[in-house]
Amino acid sequence: MNTRLALLLTVCVAAAVSQGSTLTLRNNCASTIRVCSTYGGYVYDLAPGQNKTDQPSGPYNECNSAQAEVTLNGYDNQDCYDISEVAYKLNGSPLTVYSSATAATLTCESSPCADASQPGGTPKVTCVAGPTSVFVQWC
Ligand SMILES: *[C@@H]1O[C@H](CO)[C@@H](O)[C@H](O)[C@H]1NC(C)=O
Repeated sequence: MNTRLALLLTVCVAAAVSQGSTLTLRNNCASTIRVCSTYGGYVYDLAPGQNKTDQPSGPYNECNSAQAEVTLNGYDNQDCYDISEVAYKLNGSPLTVYSSATAATLTCESSPCADASQPGGTPKVTCVAGPTSVFVQWC
């Protein structure tokens, strides 16, 4: 392979990787949060004050409470997120989902939550141009 082409490919791959958006889960509460994910399965605890960078996409909830659904680096390089009360109602700590790119902050403090998708309703998904940092925060 021609060395200029090899160099160009290397630069392109590095650029593609560095464009990744990030997802951070943050426990701003005074007590530990039990975090669950797909199908309500327990994944880990977050200590008070703890921030954790996780996989770039996924559903997360305080076990058995309203769910944050995040898809980063999706179609057209967009980052999309919502809070869902479809499977679980908010039944624990207040939940906020927001992005570094926008003032579009979703907050649920009690159920039913106006910012959340509801059973049978239109999904309330927020999408922003990536790359961004998306935060799922309790309290
Ligand atoms: C978590 O992030 C918040 C906001 O950036 C920061 O204030 C806090 O100190 C962080 N906690 C830890 C344990 O690093």
